[in-house]
Amino acid sequence: DTTVTISPAQLGFTAVAKNRNDVVTVPTGYTLSVLARLGDPLTAATPAFANNGTDTDYGNRFGDHNDALYYYGLNAAGARDDASNIRGVLVVNHENITEQYMHANGQTGTGGGGVAIARPESEAIKEIEAHGVSVIEVIQAANGGWSYVQNSTFNRRITPNTPVTINGPARGSTLMRTAYSPAGTDGRGTINNCANGVTPWGTNLTCEENWSGYFRRPTATDNPRRTPKELVALARYGVSSTNGNYGWASVTPADSSSTLYRRWDAQATGASATADYRNEPNQYGWTVEVDPYDRTKAPRKRTALGRMNHEGAWPGNFVVGRRPAWYQGDDAQNEYLYKFVSATPWVAADATATDRLAMGDKYLDSGTLYVARFNPDGSGEWLPLVFGQGPLTAANTVYSYADQADVLTHARLAADAVGATRMDRPEWTAVSPTTGEMYLTLTNNSSRTAATADASNPRAYLDPPSTSRSNRNGHILRLREAGDTTEATTFTWDIYLFAAGSDLEAANINLSGLTADNDLSSPDGLWFGRPTNATGQVKPLLWVQTDDGAFTDVTNNQMLAAFPGRVGDGGTRTVTNTAADGTTRTVTTRIGAAPGTELRRFLVGPVGCEITGVDTTPDGRTLFVGVQHPGEGGNLTNITSRWPDTQGGTTPAATVRPRSAVIVVRKNDGGVVAL
Ligand code: FEO
Ligand code: CA
Ligand code: CA
Ligand code: CA
Repeated sequence: DTTVTISPAQLGFTAVAKNRNDVVTVPTGYTLSVLARLGDPLTAATPAFANNGTDTDYGNRFGDHNDALYYYGLNAAGARDDASNIRGVLVVNHENITEQYMHANGQTGTGGGGVAIARPESEAIKEIEAHGVSVIEVIQAANGGWSYVQNSTFNRRITPNTPVTINGPARGSTLMRTAYSPAGTDGRGTINNCANGVTPWGTNLTCEENWSGYFRRPTATDNPRRTPKELVALARYGVSSTNGNYGWASVTPADSSSTLYRRWDAQATGASATADYRNEPNQYGWTVEVDPYDRTKAPRKRTALGRMNHEGAWPGNFVVGRRPAWYQGDDAQNEYLYKFVSATPWVAADATATDRLAMGDKYLDSGTLYVARFNPDGSGEWLPLVFGQGPLTAANTVYSYADQADVLTHARLAADAVGATRMDRPEWTAVSPTTGEMYLTLTNNSSRTAATADASNPRAYLDPPSTSRSNRNGHILRLREAGDTTEATTFTWDIYLFAAGSDLEAANINLSGLTADNDLSSPDGLWFGRPTNATGQVKPLLWVQTDDGAFTDVTNNQMLAAFPGRVGDGGTRTVTNTAADGTTRTVTTRIGAAPGTELRRFLVGPVGCEITGVDTTPDGRTLFVGVQHPGEGGNLTNITSRWPDTQGGTTPAATVRPRSAVIVVRKNDGGVVAL
């Protein structure tokens, strides 16, 4: 609807000051509590978490490094109820682990680039099962406080060992054939689950981001065994670790028939792809659909959405009779923004279908994957990645495409071929529920230079104490589809926000005029609040979370709230970038209107954390926020954070280990958060 008006700024809280305290800080008038932490038991029989390295059975505990999360309502009878504000299930991704804090004596294995030793099975199984997804029931008490339900029958862990099915065009492809599934139809688990997506039929999409590093594939020994085509693909996706991130392939399991560790060795050592584990990496990099209300249903990998370092897959707004779309970032330097458009126009009654994963089959298994090209004049195109079209044929000299499964499994190569725009690390996407405009965090890019700066990635600059020039702080781009429809193949765009310290030069770096109340660096998590508040007024409140390395000398990571305007509201701006040799180059970009006080810092996290994951109950009165890897960079001889035990004014013992956790924030008067 092009006539929709934007709500005036009505942020109703006082900005939180930047700080480096080892607690979560929220505005005056708000209270927070810790809802679920690494290791919390998810069955009645699972012991409490000792948090001293002796804990086991991570497959029945809340996992590590919680990332994206989403709340799915339940009524009193335990049935799906999208309007419930007092009971639901949270679906929470577990992206990674902090090995140092997980074992009795810290890290005993091989880290990336570390010394290769045989990993103990007892440690590897903990590390594997701490990854994946948790589904936990959460409930509000009469006094307003929230807790998770330890013995709920909804509680579920999905780990890298959980059976999944391969759906969509890559199902049965030769690329998906493995010893586990010679037919290429099934797989095992999900890993490095980062951001997420949703559907109106009540399912969750969990996205596999930095999966390649988990595999052992020393190139010196494996490259000679691979075809030229395989080598192009493996190099483009970075499957080249000497040991694998955590050395899981080095385990000798007690059950000698177990392949749960050996499968992380992706070398071609056998006679075929079903005799060894060479195709295991092709199982990851996808978007995976989970039914949060039915723990008996195997997750389905939706291969039509493409394979990449899949940050997330957020939908555009659903319109009856229109084909819906999901927007997807590929988070690595100079990668792309993608859009999947379903082949199937939306039917409103499908929102309440009882076989929810069948709705995923209907809307997510066939359609068109596009990649974005951003033009200097503020226009852009969605370029289709379709086998047989343009350069995506067997005759391509960089990579010879066999079929659509090959195109989707190697979406990055296809995107290169069609001439997409290389971006500054595409992270989360978010869509305004009122305007349908899509926002994309471009978190930072240490390889952007004055020479490669372009209209949609326009900054390369010096931000002390760094001595190199790049996009250190990131920006948030947004786009408006032609005709305001998810089906569009063209769009207009601008840059809603340039992240920067407020002390940086206004003319070329702090272009959005940020102040002490809202300066930030490395925007990552991004989400528009649920569309209605208590009065029914539509409020497109935008939440921005940071995952920063450039600003942590000033403040821990943070979350801000905003009321943004619309694409094109700020006009053009010319940025002058200075290269290391002193030469200058100017770029003209499209900038959003300065946010002023319509962007405000709501929360600052503890030491060494990243803020990840955000949602509210439908009434907007309970806010769920993820705090990931507090104490990152520390170890057992230098524990750098003791959060969440620090919360609430207590001083934990020096030996207490930090834990990733999800918190709940509520306004003391029970009102809508942030208003
Ligand atoms: Fe897992 Fe790109 O963040
Ligand atoms: Ca992220
Ligand atoms: Ca990040
Ligand atoms: Ca992270």
